[in-house]
Amino acid sequence: MENNGIISSGSHAAPQEKKLFTPGPLCVSRTVKEALCRDMGSRDTEFIQIVKNLRDNLVKVAGLSQNEFTAVLMQGSGTFSVESVLLSTSNRKQKVLIVANGAYGQRMKIICEKAEIPYDILVFPETQVVDVERVLNFLESQPNGIFSSVAVIHCETTTGIINPTEKLGEQLKQKFPAMTYIVDAMSSFAAVEANYSQVDFLISSANKCLQGVPGFGFVICRLTQLEKCKGLSKSLALDLYEQWKGLEENGQFRFTPPTHAILGLTQACKELEAEGGVAGRARRYKKNSEIIKVGMAERGFKQLIEGEEGHITTTFFYPSHENFNFQKFYNELSDLGQLIYPGKVTNAACFRIGHIGHLDAEDMRHLLKCIDQVLSKMNIPCPLQ
Ligand SMILES: Cc1ncc(COP(=O)(O)O)c(C=O)c1O
Repeated sequence: MENNGIISSGSHAAPQEKKLFTPGPLCVSRTVKEALCRDMGSRDTEFIQIVKNLRDNLVKVAGLSQNEFTAVLMQGSGTFSVESVLLSTSNRKQKVLIVANGAYGQRMKIICEKAEIPYDILVFPETQVVDVERVLNFLESQPNGIFSSVAVIHCETTTGIINPTEKLGEQLKQKFPAMTYIVDAMSSFAAVEANYSQVDFLISSANKCLQGVPGFGFVICRLTQLEKCKGLSKSLALDLYEQWKGLEENGQFRFTPPTHAILGLTQACKELEAEGGVAGRARRYKKNSEIIKVGMAERGFKQLIEGEEGHITTTFFYPSHENFNFQKFYNELSDLGQLIYPGKVTNAACFRIGHIGHLDAEDMRHLLKCIDQVLSKMNIPCPLQ
């Protein structure tokens, strides 16, 4: 990667900048950061055109047709976009079926509870992909018309597991053609090659694998489904339909747009294209993840999920050595300019290393060297016993 101002690389730039081996926000390129160094009026014709181009580009990155789909940008973090979809698609007479195998599926449940959206949840173990047959069997066992939608996470960032959303979508649309299909692809969009043509509402955000900066999320919506959302949301700000209408009518956001973050994502999309699109980005992340998985295995670390994990983030068990203390391990790595991430699974002591963002093979190898240094400082023999 081009010099990004990291302490450990001895560069001349901002010394406090660290490498983020996290699930987000992520390291972004210097050119993305530079794109933010410009003030823009939210009602200026140039900005309106930038927003329009970005929306079109996001549909293109998803591999979908602009005749059938549109991208709606939503201020806030990714959760705001997820919440806007759940609020805007529920008619409150039928239920949404949440298919969960981790914290982000569970977050959908909390959103529904708070907003009093009728739902059911099918929970799968955090260490396994969701079972498509079980979802379909469950729906078949239920009275006709009780559910209006199914919502699932593509990459469950809790563990890094990648769910078979394509298979679920195909079978769902075959057996229940009236069902709305919602996919949270927050941490997989632009980094996992997928066919999203069965999805009605596809959610992600600027600061994940597109490598923009935080500030807004987006939803790629099937137009025929979006049109049915009029008047459904019980929130003013998180109303996907009204947000879309606003953007369509005069090209403007209803409320203050994240102008700088939009300039950042516009630049980030150019960089995605230059990298070879989703395929190119997936290639780099897979290489990053391979270096970490092999390197950590050589050091005796055990993965939470062997084999099935994707290339977004990997979860490792804490070493059993008595000197291991995660907070100390984390702080020591942080002092070396390397930020890893705590675990999020319910029943295991573990931590995560993200492979995404503006990071390359050299960054991953450097992290491994820093891990060696820290283990040695903590008096933990490496390889671990
Ligand atoms: C799959 C998934 N869904 C939702 C979210 C929530 O996004 P945010 O933290 O930006 O609100 C995340 C965040 O990492 C995520 O990975």
